[in-house]
Amino acid sequence: MPQAKVLFVCLGNICRSPLAEAAFRHAASEAGLDAEADSCGTAAYHVGEPPDPRSIAEAKKHGIDISGYRGRQLHARDFHEFTHIYALDEQNLADIDARAPAGHTARIGLLMDAVDVRKGEPVADPYYGDEEGFSTTWRDVSEAAKALVATLKP
Ligand code: 4NP
Repeated sequence: MPQAKVLFVCLGNICRSPLAEAAFRHAASEAGLDAEADSCGTAAYHVGEPPDPRSIAEAKKHGIDISGYRGRQLHARDFHEFTHIYALDEQNLADIDARAPAGHTARIGLLMDAVDVRKGEPVADPYYGDEEGFSTTWRDVSEAAKALVATLKP
């Protein structure tokens, strides 16, 4: 059994949450944490699609290939299958909470709450902006991923 099963959730599952998943996998592997990770979207717009090309390019800059990731939507069973579910922004968090089935077992939170000095902050959606936004996203999710791994390590 992995020590944690962590799900990252944004709106479309093509920009932010794939990068959060990649950053977390990377940080867990560096730290020797036995964890599983996945990502999904609250919306179904991009189900079955690879991440946004700008997310793929940003991950590649850090030596990580996310071109094989595929979009999927948040599902009721995720609330039992994952130990932790992290929302990339407040709207995602509200949508996750609204769909949480009674008696679910996952801990649900805002991703940037993992970083003491950034509590309550969103990971801004870079979809409508330029490439630079994706570098900011990477910095944010990497910082949170490292902090999460530190708290999850026994
Ligand atoms: P993400 O970004 O939630 O970080 O994957 C978005 C991707 C697609 C859309 C919105 C945000 N969209 O409206 O299609």
